[in-house]
Amino acid sequence: MHDDHRVPADHERFRGDYPVVVEGLVNRFGTQTVHEHLDLKVRRREILGVVGGSGTGKSVLMRSIIGLQQPTEGHIEVFNRSITDAEPDANIGVRNRWGVLFQGGALFSTLTVGENVEVPLRQFYPELSPELRREIARYKVLLSGLPEEAANKYPSELSGGMKKRAGLARALALDPELLFLDEPTAGLDPIGADKFDRLTKELQDTLGLTVFLITHDLDTLYAICDRVAVLADKRVIAVGTIPELLETGHPWIEEYFNGPRGRAAQGTQARTQARTGAES
Ligand SMILES: Nc1ncnc2c1ncn2[C@@H]1O[C@H](COP(=O)(O)OP(=O)(O)OP(=O)(O)O)[C@@H](O)[C@H]1O
Ligand SMILES: [Mg+2]
Repeated sequence: MHDDHRVPADHERFRGDYPVVVEGLVNRFGTQTVHEHLDLKVRRREILGVVGGSGTGKSVLMRSIIGLQQPTEGHIEVFNRSITDAEPDANIGVRNRWGVLFQGGALFSTLTVGENVEVPLRQFYPELSPELRREIARYKVLLSGLPEEAANKYPSELSGGMKKRAGLARALALDPELLFLDEPTAGLDPIGADKFDRLTKELQDTLGLTVFLITHDLDTLYAICDRVAVLADKRVIAVGTIPELLETGHPWIEEYFNGPRGRAAQGTQARTQARTGAES
């Protein structure tokens, strides 16, 4: 059983309704409880925005889903395969079906952008020839909206926005069905953030991706998210479209979306819709 883990999984794509199912998740660090019976289902081919105050456990939730953080309790399935009950190696066939852009990028600083993108290819497809591997990496760099020559640059030679794109290129290396993005537009100027949002939406549309998108960026939520999950009180208190969330009347949701920044983002979205409506 263990010696077949290098065989590439077949490329059958997930057909169920929920590629990610989290049930009764508990995460404790010492005496600190981050999650208490958290439930969440991600729908196939949606962009799910995940919001919550700083330190509410958004990144810990993502790390639990991708098996980097063994939860204290609870059950998590990705593509109908248990992440929480399986041996670490048993999930090798699932791990190559998702891509992750970590908060802060997490590129290897001693490798060029192209070499960074090659890392997951080497890991999961060791039989690929170096030429083909380099070619695939080059294609992913372009797909992420970077100029071709960026493939030969080191992370320290890139701007913040380019680093995010390089991280995205690496997340796309294995043609994932499921993409995890942790604060992809943090630190970008509004135009850079808007471009990154549009790229995310375009990739989701054309590649049929399901996207788990952690963000503080209200413009992102309005512009590209199909639904939004709100983390508060150690669990997901609501999931839905922004109007559905507002109907809950929860004070945090109310303040978040109807505070000054929320109102500004709503205004931007309304103007964009009016403009694109007028153009078409
Ligand atoms: N490995 C760990 N050991 C101990 N505590 C941890 C660990 N990882 C996270 N925590 C704690 O869990 C809590 C949630 O952290 P997490 O990084 O998920 O927050 P977040 O919602 O992503 O915040 P931000 O919006 O600032 O990124 C924090 O209090 C953090 O200190
Ligand atoms: Mg975080």
